[in-house]
Amino acid sequence: MTICRICAGPLTEFLDLGAQPNSDAFPKPGETEGEFFFRLAVGRCGSCTMVQLMEEVPRERMFHEDYPYHSSGSSVMREHFEATARGILATVADDPDPFVVEIGCNDGVMLATVAGAGVRHLGVDPSAGVADRARAKGVRVRTAFFEEETALAIAAAEGRADVVYAANTLCHLPYLESIFRGLDALLKPEGVFVFEDPYLGDIVERTSFDQIYDEHFYFFTARSVQSMAHHYGFELVDVLRLPVHGGEVRYTLARRGTRVPTASVAELLADEDSKDLAEPVTLERFAAEVRRTRDELTALLTRLRAEGHRVVAYGATAKSATVANYCGIGPELISFVCDSTPAKQGRLTPGSHIPVRTPDAFGDPYPEYALLFAWNHAEEIMAKEQKFRERGGRWILYTPDVHMV
Ligand code: SAM
Ligand code: TMP
Ligand code: ZN
Repeated sequence: MTICRICAGPLTEFLDLGAQPNSDAFPKPGETEGEFFFRLAVGRCGSCTMVQLMEEVPRERMFHEDYPYHSSGSSVMREHFEATARGILATVADDPDPFVVEIGCNDGVMLATVAGAGVRHLGVDPSAGVADRARAKGVRVRTAFFEEETALAIAAAEGRADVVYAANTLCHLPYLESIFRGLDALLKPEGVFVFEDPYLGDIVERTSFDQIYDEHFYFFTARSVQSMAHHYGFELVDVLRLPVHGGEVRYTLARRGTRVPTASVAELLADEDSKDLAEPVTLERFAAEVRRTRDELTALLTRLRAEGHRVVAYGATAKSATVANYCGIGPELISFVCDSTPAKQGRLTPGSHIPVRTPDAFGDPYPEYALLFAWNHAEEIMAKEQKFRERGGRWILYTPDVHMV
């Protein structure tokens, strides 16, 4: 039996998304031989309710020098992280020498604002390529995996932190025991750990099963985070729902007994209880919706292609690896995917081998249909590509269900 990575409780699988590649490994044309695959399946812990992957992909396979995801690629996300940084700066404004640490700082999208304010900070990120981009923005970065050993080294060299922050990173880290020991070593007695990740409540509500891929190991709820915090000597003291990336929650943890939880914690817990979120019946229903989406999307794309229409995709997201490989969508259904990330262009999508091209290729000439893989950036992309709709093009979306706009 597979057991929970946090509490060793029994894991029950509720969804199998089949053989999947590394979602951010874009092979060069002609170099698809020997691609890595693993079984992407999700289960729920019968003890602490944490939803998690059944199989863990070695971290070095995912996060390395060539990790192609650049957080600054979206203007909406740049604004989100600037506002986040200003919020963090406000909470430490009274401290004579505050210290802010970010786990998974990527290209410095958040810490650049902290650095600009002259506040002591450190980003930790194992992906050397993105870390260099952060340094170019004046951000101090340690190229390493955050874990207990790294945290001890940082605390010894630079002292303890007021705030440790992580966006779209904690859910990537199966080894939470080491992370929390590290946080305990690094945080000041009254310090807080703030993290934000995709919210299971939104994933279930929107059937956004593409949030499930190798990097996303945990799918948090207020209930499971409260239990996780407790397990490691911390307490959930605040939650805030965020609209970014298709729906996230920002959780604030403090050492047990050091802060009074805000009313929002009890409210979100009650909301989750009323919806039976993370109850087996809900997760089974979600899995059935996922299978329905797969069948409908595959049928739609097959029909459009059979009718001779030209269909391309937009946004070679990590999420889209799950959709393409689970639904069997390859170059025979989608001519190419456009993406603004230079490191992905000229390559093939992981596992499904659809060519990735620059956004310029989109209008040259416009296709009749475009599958929006980067649906979480819909507003930004649709505004940028207004002409596509004006010329009669239709966007295909698959969340919350398969539809066209
Ligand atoms: N925080 C950025 C954001 O929200 O856009 C980046 C998110 S990106 C999906 C995850 C980042 O976490 C990557 O840059 C990756 O290299 C980094 N990462 C993975 N494991 C890590 C670890 N143990 N410690 C620190 N960073 C890690
Ligand atoms: P994400 O959903 O993980 O943030 O990935 C978004 C992907 O979409 C990333 O590869 C960059 C790409 N993208 C574009 O090509 N054009 C855009 O306007 C935006 C916002 C993203
Ligand atoms: Zn558990």
